[in-house]
Amino acid sequence: MKKHNCLTIFLFLLSGPFLPVIFLSAQTNKPLPQLGKAPIKEVIAAMTTEEKTKLVVGNGFRMPGITPQGPVIGQTQNKVPGAAGTTFAIPRLGIPSIVVADGPAGLRIDPIRNKDSSKTYYATAFPVATLLASTWDTALVRKAGAAFGSEVHEYGVDILLAPALNIHRNPLGGRNFEYYSEDPLIAGKITAAIVNGIQSNGVGTSIKHFAANNQETNRNTINTIVSERALREIYLKAFEIAVKSSQPWTVMSSYNKINGTYASEEKDLLTTILRKEWGFKGLVMTDWFGGKDPVAQMNAGNDLLMPGTSQQSQRIIDAVKHDSLNVKVLDENVEHILRIILQSPSFKGYKYSDKPDLKRDAEISRTAAEEGMVLLKNNNTALPLKNSKKISVFGNTSYDIIAGGTGSGDVNKAYTVSLIQGLTNDGYTVDADLKTAYTGYLNDQKAKHPKKGFFEEFMNPTPPAPEYDASNELINQKAAETDLAVITIGRNAGEGRDRKVENDFNLSDNEKNLIKNVADAFHAKNKKVVVVLNIGGVIEVASWRNNADAILLAWQPGLEAGNAIANILNGKVNPSGKLATTFPINYSDVPSAKNFPGKEFPEQATTGAFGMKLIPAEVTYGEGIYVGYRYYDKANVTPAYEFGYGSSYTTFSYSNLKLNTSKFTGKITATIDITNTGTVPGKEVVELYISAPGKSMDKPEKELKAFGKTNLLQPGKKQTLSFTIDAGSLASFDTEKTSWIAEPGAYTVKVGSSSKNIKQTAVFNLDKEIVVEKNHKVLTPKNDISGMQF
Ligand code: BGC
Repeated sequence: MKKHNCLTIFLFLLSGPFLPVIFLSAQTNKPLPQLGKAPIKEVIAAMTTEEKTKLVVGNGFRMPGITPQGPVIGQTQNKVPGAAGTTFAIPRLGIPSIVVADGPAGLRIDPIRNKDSSKTYYATAFPVATLLASTWDTALVRKAGAAFGSEVHEYGVDILLAPALNIHRNPLGGRNFEYYSEDPLIAGKITAAIVNGIQSNGVGTSIKHFAANNQETNRNTINTIVSERALREIYLKAFEIAVKSSQPWTVMSSYNKINGTYASEEKDLLTTILRKEWGFKGLVMTDWFGGKDPVAQMNAGNDLLMPGTSQQSQRIIDAVKHDSLNVKVLDENVEHILRIILQSPSFKGYKYSDKPDLKRDAEISRTAAEEGMVLLKNNNTALPLKNSKKISVFGNTSYDIIAGGTGSGDVNKAYTVSLIQGLTNDGYTVDADLKTAYTGYLNDQKAKHPKKGFFEEFMNPTPPAPEYDASNELINQKAAETDLAVITIGRNAGEGRDRKVENDFNLSDNEKNLIKNVADAFHAKNKKVVVVLNIGGVIEVASWRNNADAILLAWQPGLEAGNAIANILNGKVNPSGKLATTFPINYSDVPSAKNFPGKEFPEQATTGAFGMKLIPAEVTYGEGIYVGYRYYDKANVTPAYEFGYGSSYTTFSYSNLKLNTSKFTGKITATIDITNTGTVPGKEVVELYISAPGKSMDKPEKELKAFGKTNLLQPGKKQTLSFTIDAGSLASFDTEKTSWIAEPGAYTVKVGSSSKNIKQTAVFNLDKEIVVEKNHKVLTPKNDISGMQF
């Protein structure tokens, strides 16, 4: 035990069943204040500076083979092996250590402990965030969150390091699968739903990575140069919605700099905006090894430095000693941490079972997966598959499906249902020759690339197996013998690197040839070809889609992948997902293509944690607020599949759009009737966009302001959906006035089934300008970048 300036005395009370320990102060001989019993300020007053500096710095990082003990010996590092970190415990003041673990698609902990596989600790791999957003169903996402959070709780973890909600600025973003959308409204609402679900279990979340962290290239050094308006309207907005409507316990600051300052060292971001403007009540932690200067981080309101090193504690102690850090600041950081610890299961002594209900959660995961898959194309009702019994299944990932992305967004799950398994479970006959050829090939590939550890894989990822080159002879034979072809195209990515244009965004030659050859052979026999996209981020589809009769965007759907896909293919479930991110025709159409991933300054390179080379770099968000559909609309660039698009096995009509008033006086309610006009039951995602007058302000052509999803409507049945539009929905950020302003004039409400397919419109007027909110003048770019905006 460490030496304290208070003498620690153990008193054993003999009366109860337990033997509680009471610590007495050496000075006063009175019991020391205990967290949860004494006022927090008294607990802080009883802490030594050393204890405070240890509490604001995590217990270190344990990485098998690299830092087995961790830079600092963690007191509870063995409580949940595989968790990403813990905080420092101070038993004499009743302060326990709490455990934090990744990640956005399921709890990431070690599934096997001490090589003993008689008891396992697997978690459910839920569908990735891009899929969850494509459900447009906040109730469903909340339910998935509740299941997810129960695993966090039952495995003894206090805070989940998720959800992640950075904006899809560019399709090559390596972590886009962990993020929801190119649009801040849907990203914010889905985040709030999952946070509310997870936290309903009495565990915390960490919404990340705050903020403007939209690429992996040079992620620890990149200086994001971005306008105040784009920050406020696009990159901060989703966080704002999430904070205001779900109060996540924690926020994780991002690695990057914003307009010259590391996010974790930027007080205007972490205190002025997050706490003062938005009312955030929790604690802010760094991303792992994020930022540079621990004292600046403390001053900025970045309360907890993770995973924590002893050097960081020392620098903070020195700063207090030399008066370069006011102890009041440190006390505030400590208080934020203690207030979260007070709510934690560890503090409450929760007896976790290590037995979450994985069976129930797998079902929830499968349902969520089915709801977020997007039917991109379905010519001549190629789907559902009713009459096709014998299927030729092509594509590596049909046999080795990708449940989710890599890195901290990965999940150690007990199993993943492949597509062929899912089809077989549903009674289809999967062609045996193809199965033998593909599994043989994939086994050979695996033997060539033995499985690596997490860190090795992070530093040097195993390349995906090139698409198996099925011979024309085999393809022709199968076109004759079987009823239909299914081809899966797969993609994987993860933290640490961005994707590439060639052989990644664009299909490889093998993949293109496969689709073409299969289509030629099967179409010649009047048989159909269905393409399944098992991807976490956007790919090119326009050049090959004519070869497919149907395309199902299955995303990376979690551990029940094959069952969920099969349920859509066979029509048990009618697809109802819609895109929350645009599929452009060419990569060069992307508004940020010219400014991604920015420029490097290699001559200033330094060495960071684990010997990683750190190259200073900067990226300018020259497209301003024109990200995703805001750009494609304004610039009149036709995408392959637009934002909000998704097809169904049935059809819907939109009628009777009504506003409760035509004059805006603070709030307007819009209602619309949706009727299933087809022959099978289905659900429809309904999107409400607003076009502003755009006279005194530069405005996008339209912006998503509300959305909803119908219940499962039987053919002929109707549902009325209702949406509320408040003043904030009309406002844009006026940089000069540092205010959110709704300009006067005529606003058009556009309700549609996608951002291009607007079905009904209605107009209302705003007579006088409204200043909806005045904000602080902060995070101003150092250079004038207005000229770069669209
Ligand atoms: C990632 C975070 C993650 C953390 C802990 C970092 O590399 O950026 O998202 O939560 O590691 O594993």
